[in-house]
Formats: sequence, structure tokens, C-alpha cells
Amino acid sequence: MGAPQLATKVGAAELHYEGRVITLPVLEGSEHERGLDTSRLRELTGLVALDYGYKNTGSCRSEITYLDGEQGILRYRGYPVEELAEKSRFVEVAYLLVHGRLPLLAEQQDFSELLTRHSMIHEDMTQFFKNYPEHSHPMAILSGMVVSLSSFYPELSQGNVDEELAHIDITATRLLSKLRTIAAFSYKKSIGEPFVYPRHNLKYCANFLNMMFSSPVRPYDANPVIERALNVLLILHADHEQNCSTSTVRLVGSAKVNLYAAVAAGICALWGPLHGGANQEVIGMLEGIQRQGGDVKRVIERAKDKKDPFRLYGFGHRVYKNHDPRARIIKQTCVDVLRELKVKDPLLDIALELEERVQSDPYFVERKLYPNVDFYSGIIYRAMGIPENMFTVLFSIGRLPGWIAQWKESQEDPEFKIQRPRQIYTGPTLRHYLPIQERG
Ligand code: ACO
Repeated sequence: MGAPQLATKVGAAELHYEGRVITLPVLEGSEHERGLDTSRLRELTGLVALDYGYKNTGSCRSEITYLDGEQGILRYRGYPVEELAEKSRFVEVAYLLVHGRLPLLAEQQDFSELLTRHSMIHEDMTQFFKNYPEHSHPMAILSGMVVSLSSFYPELSQGNVDEELAHIDITATRLLSKLRTIAAFSYKKSIGEPFVYPRHNLKYCANFLNMMFSSPVRPYDANPVIERALNVLLILHADHEQNCSTSTVRLVGSAKVNLYAAVAAGICALWGPLHGGANQEVIGMLEGIQRQGGDVKRVIERAKDKKDPFRLYGFGHRVYKNHDPRARIIKQTCVDVLRELKVKDPLLDIALELEERVQSDPYFVERKLYPNVDFYSGIIYRAMGIPENMFTVLFSIGRLPGWIAQWKESQEDPEFKIQRPRQIYTGPTLRHYLPIQERG
């Protein structure tokens, strides 16, 4: 699995501009999505395509994830995310995303073996954790540690992307495995407990939970309900085509920087409250409602008030204008996990009431604002005992196979270009420097 298939030319569109007719090709993908190829627009007309927030701009061809926001469809390499969440495990989905197909038994075993072999981090790196100030956000530690991997494992990161591509199995598994270890260590640092090292006899999610929750004085046996729920959550976060953090990975990677640096940049982008950081914000919002006596109407009114910058976290999405298929599965998983663990979380009742009210409110209905992937995930994490500042870290672990697959695909694309958008300049026209005494 390498470079993405070329899109088929299925027609042309005419642009009438200043008395000339310019013809631009119309391309079609495998799911009949169509796009106008504007790559020669400036050359032919002197015009650039201006599109704030890239609401309407495709930046690449890709074979990894198919998403139809109007129909609420999400597929990885053709497989519906619902099927994968029900039947697969995160490690298998990671393999699927990176390699383009589900593994055979022997390949799966090799992959698991590689994940185990690469799960430790260089012992010197543990010193870094110790020197971070108390209460550092684990996302800051995570991104710092990932970019530091390039110093500890330099053979794959000297800017020699071709070499990295040749070793993608090692690079990918190394990152997949070590990110989990770094994430658990950053949690242990934040609570002042000793690090727990990865174990060779535990599967990916159980290993992570063990590194998070066992201690020298308290052994931990991963509850299968929690282990399964974690697999489902990581699968549902594993890729989402050209979202903010993935586009960041591709853009930073387009400068031919090493994979670790590109992924570290993706982690920083994911941290933002409008993106993956929303899962932490949701819990803060629900707790705020709880403190106010459970009055959900007040936050709904605030979210609708255009003078108030507040937004209802966990609602709305750039591409889903029907429902987010991940949110449906997560909501059901949330209800199931809380029931099976016999956890009664008042925040779930608040969340359910908020969703119900929002869905009958014309403001949200007209704008097609539905719960997104972040709305219910935090309540599951809470039930698992995962603290709020680790929620987006968990999202990063889930999204990593997608970032790797997208980085790899972009590097192998024969139409590879450094990414460099244009602008329309609206600043001052030519003026000349005045000595400071003459300025007034
Ligand atoms: N609460 C209140 N109003 C909202 C919300 C919200 N959560 N989301 C969108 N709107 C309103 C906007 O104010 C705007 O209203 P207007 O047309 O009257 O000006 C309209 O809906 C369209 O919103 P945009 O901001 O233009 O939509 P965009 O696609 O640019 O933003 C985003 C999408 C960032 C996800 C937005 O819906 C939002 O801020 N949601 C809350 C944060 C969140 O949950 N982010 C996680 C998204 S999932 C993920 O990244 C993993």
C-alpha cells in the first residue's frame, strides 16, 4: 500500500472571467465524490482560491478513510467503523490503517511481538519526566517526549524520509508502542507515583491500563469491560481523514521533517479545545452545570448568545451535518460501561438531558449541530478512573495510527509538494522607513 490512486477525470467546469473562458478539470474518487482541480487557477487567471478554514478545499487524494458527513458514514480502508468497533481490536485497526489491509495471523503475531519489543523508552528519557514542573499538562509532556524520541532513535530521523519509509514497520510500531508508555509515565509523574514498566505478557490496552493503575503496593487486574471499552474508544479515534491535527501532520511532514516531529506537531494541534481538547472541556462544562444545580437551559442559552464566546463543547462538527457515527457508538458504550461497572455518574444524566434539549432547539437543529465524538467519551474515561487532563492524551494514542498512515501516504504520493498556501494581502501598500524622530 503506497501512493494513493489517481482520481478519475470525469468532466470539466468552465469559469468565465474577464471575458475569457477557463476550463478546469472535474475529478471523481472511488465513492463518486467530485472535486474541481484548481491547481492551475492562478497560472491561468492570476486568481487564487480563497477559502477560510479550508471549508471547501481538498488538500490531497487519499485511500485511507472515507467520510460522508451528510450520511454519517465513516470507513477505514473501506471497512465501516461500526464493524471494526464491534469485531476488531485497536492493534489490528492500527495495522489496517498503516498497511492498508487487515493482517494475516502471522503478521498480527509479528506486529504484536514488535509492539512488545519496542514498548520501553530509553532510560535517560525518564529523567525528562522528573524535571517537568508539577501540574504540567500531560499533552505538553507527550508532545515534548515524542519529538525527543528523534534524539534517542536518530537512525530513523535524520531527515532521511526515504530511510524512514523503508523502515516504516519499525518506526510505526516504535511510536505506537512508546506513545502508550510515555502517556502512562506522564500520568504517574503527575500523581507522584513511580513509573510502571510495560509487560511482555499483556495486550496493548491491558498493558496501558496496567502502567496507569498498578503500583508497587497495589496490583492491577484490567477489568475486561474496561479493556474492551478502551479498544472501542481507540478504534473510533484512529483516523478521521483531513482534520486539523492530521492536516498538521501532513503539512509539517511536507517540509520533509522526521515522523516524530510531524506527530509531535499533530499532538499540539489535537490539544486545542476546538479539536481533541474538547473531551476535557465537556467534563468541565458538565461539572459546571452540576454545580449550578443541574440547570442545562442556562448553558444552552449561553451557547446561543452571539455576544458570549462560550460554545457547547462536544457539539458540532465541520463535516458531520447529520450525526457523528462515532458519537452513537460511544454513547451506547458509555451507557453499557457504566451499567456493567455499576457506576452511577450524575454527569451522564446531565449529558443525556443536554443532548435531548439541544436536539429539539431550533438554533442547534437549523445549524445541524449534533453530539460529536468528544461528548460522551469523557464520561467513559471517568468511569475507568482516568483523570480529565489525560482524556486528550488517550485521543492521541487512538489517533496515532491515522497520523502515521497519512504521513506515509503523503510522503509516497507522486504529486508530493511542500504545503504552502497563498493569501490575499490586505495590509498597507508601499511606504518608506522614517527615522524615529520623524514619526508622529
Ligand atoms: N455551540 C454553539 N454554537 C455552535 C457550536 C457549538 N458547539 N458549534 C457551532 N456553532 C454555531 C456557530 O456559532 C455558527 O453559528 P452562526 O452560523 O450563527 O455563526 C454555526 O454553528 C457554524 O459553526 P462554525 O464555527 O462555522 O462551524 P465550524 O465547522 O467552523 O466549527 C467546530 C466546527 C469547531 C467543531 C464547532 O462546531 C465547535 O466549536 N464545537 C465545539 C467544540 C468541539 O466540540 N470540538 C470537537 C469537534 S470533534 C473533534 O475535533 C475531534
